[in-house]
Amino acid sequence: MNTKHILVLFAFLLAFTSCEENKERSITLAQPEIYNVTNLKANSFKIEYTQIVNAQSYEISLATDESFTELVSPYESVSVKDDNYSFTDLQANQTYYVRVTAEYQELRSESSVAEKVTTLVADDVEPDTALKEVAESFHVGMAVITERLNGTHHEIYQREYNQITAEWEMKMNIMYPTEGRYDFTAADQLVDYAEANGMRIHGHALIWHAATPTWVEDFAGTDEEFETMVEDYIKTTVSRYKGRIVSWDVVNEAVNDSNGELRNTVFLQRMGADYIQKCFQWAREADPDVLLFYNDYNLCWDQTKLGTVLNLIDDFQTNNVPLDGVGFQMHISYNGPSKARIAENTKLVTDKGVLLHYSELDVKVNPDNDISELTEERAFAQKDKVTEVVEIYNAIPEGSKFALTIWGLRDNESWIPNQQGHADWALFYDEDFNIKKAHTGFLEGLE
Ligand code: XIL
Repeated sequence: MNTKHILVLFAFLLAFTSCEENKERSITLAQPEIYNVTNLKANSFKIEYTQIVNAQSYEISLATDESFTELVSPYESVSVKDDNYSFTDLQANQTYYVRVTAEYQELRSESSVAEKVTTLVADDVEPDTALKEVAESFHVGMAVITERLNGTHHEIYQREYNQITAEWEMKMNIMYPTEGRYDFTAADQLVDYAEANGMRIHGHALIWHAATPTWVEDFAGTDEEFETMVEDYIKTTVSRYKGRIVSWDVVNEAVNDSNGELRNTVFLQRMGADYIQKCFQWAREADPDVLLFYNDYNLCWDQTKLGTVLNLIDDFQTNNVPLDGVGFQMHISYNGPSKARIAENTKLVTDKGVLLHYSELDVKVNPDNDISELTEERAFAQKDKVTEVVEIYNAIPEGSKFALTIWGLRDNESWIPNQQGHADWALFYDEDFNIKKAHTGFLEGLE
């Protein structure tokens, strides 16, 4: 390498470095804007702000004065990646100022205009009395999935409920996905969880047309082989959890809406009209002590459908087929069915001397898709409906009491928006784990 080469190399390096510097210098960060304050509560709120090009993170600061000298711990300077942030554990009825600054390495944007937020007065906060503490004569259940057994979910589960139901992981398509091969991984996990936390577990559901695996729908063998397969499935599953599970929904939703007939399922087709009775017999043979339930929806208002179920109960009782209880799913709405209707149908079942489980309670506030957010009026209406339901359940004969199960924790985890194809807020907690009025409605139903 001669001097000329060295000079060229030097010039090249110089050009390259200054080019890098230019690149650094050319990066600018626009000023963020806080465009929304949501979930305003007595002790928390959430901000949403514009995403800034080139920003790697955002510094969030909270203060009680506009010039940000009185910073609020631990929110003096929080660095976050998302374009929203939730403050918790704040003072009720307190004015705060919040600002956001975009960051790229050492570079900082101009801070956003400070947003002034006043938290609500404490009266607006719903009491956090645990449901299981006030429901002395029956269990309070929650629908769960294995993915949500930790963190805040776990804390709330432990505090509020003393029974769980698997939302979908103890159905046939999950537990018996392919012929000859059972998969109890998720079911085991849920049963272990219940035991570790001193909760009962309600098994749900052995036979359900909507969770039947394809291989069963398309079963290649004879009807006799089909029946043997179902017997094996029920006995394998029930005996696996013998002594660990308090109850099973043996058959779910076997009755048609409004026409008094059995639903036309592969089980009816392959095993005949007494397939329900057979399933209950097999479950009883596998575990003499587990409580056996028939579970269905609309029973609290569809008189024809309930009539068919009442006939089924009579038939079971006449023929000594084991049946311990009936589950009313209770997927209802803020505006119906009426309290009188629910009470009447409830009595028709408890008069038969069986247990009654309100097994999947949720209360739609938007069945007609006429609201785009949960309004205060609907939140109160939902609360009132929950109070009615709990009053009715609490008043049934002690010998019929079993449990009242809520079908999910947070509004955004509910199956309802999916099922009805539009937004709803059907549960007791909002998406930020705040307790809703519906929860207070439950407490008031027991007063
Ligand atoms: C629903 C679950 O909530 C969903 O997550 C799942 O995808 C489908 O099943 N009646 C029942 C419940 O008995 O098992 C259903 O649960 C809701 C209707």
